[in-house]
Amino acid sequence: MEIKNLDFDINEMQDSDLIDVTSIERESYDFPWNESIFRDCLLSGYKCFTLKKQGIVIGYAILSIVMDEAHVLNICIGQKYQNLGFGDKLLDYLVGESQQAGVKKIFLEVRPSNKKAIALYRKKGFEQIAKRSSYYRHSNGREDAEVYALNMGKIGYIDIQY
Ligand SMILES: CC(C)(COP(=O)(O)OP(=O)(O)OC[C@H]1O[C@@H](n2cnc3c(N)ncnc32)[C@H](O)[C@@H]1OP(=O)(O)O)[C@@H](O)C(=O)NCCC(=O)NCCS
Repeated sequence: MEIKNLDFDINEMQDSDLIDVTSIERESYDFPWNESIFRDCLLSGYKCFTLKKQGIVIGYAILSIVMDEAHVLNICIGQKYQNLGFGDKLLDYLVGESQQAGVKKIFLEVRPSNKKAIALYRKKGFEQIAKRSSYYRHSNGREDAEVYALNMGKIGYIDIQY
């Protein structure tokens, strides 16, 4: 599925996007993935997408689908383009891809301190189902992860628009 409108495109990530992707990754996270992690994602068959505005990568997402479960491994919008609705669109896209693949539940982990991401996930119908202790690296040691899940059976009402 390839999505286009006047303002942005979402496409499969290519090797040639990795410089831009890792640059956004570095500005977005204290413990960013390096290029070889993204390369492994491409090679291992994860669904890897870029969101481009006028041909420039401004965001990306990595989704793993196994049987009827999906896992959002990364979703990120470059700092300059945050709070404009792109994260919302990219997450909708991942939900749409999952729906098409027959997924029943989508999972993701998030730092409890990441209030913005949590607000986005809740808005989209994700609910916290668990906590993983000491899951993330943190400058002071480790930080827990909150595990969220979206039950696809409950989202019939979502009007997914790109
Ligand atoms: C989390 C992230 C993907 C959200 O993308 P975004 O494009 O900034 O978000 P959007 O503009 O689409 O906003 C979607 C929703 O997020 C929430 N949100 C956005 N900005 C917010 C803020 N400053 N404070 C609280 N909630 C906020 C709101 O619920 C918003 O919906 P609304 O505008 O209808 O109220 C983006 O901030 C990001 O890439 N952050 C760095 C990487 C990261 O933390 N990824 C998630 C890892 S789990």
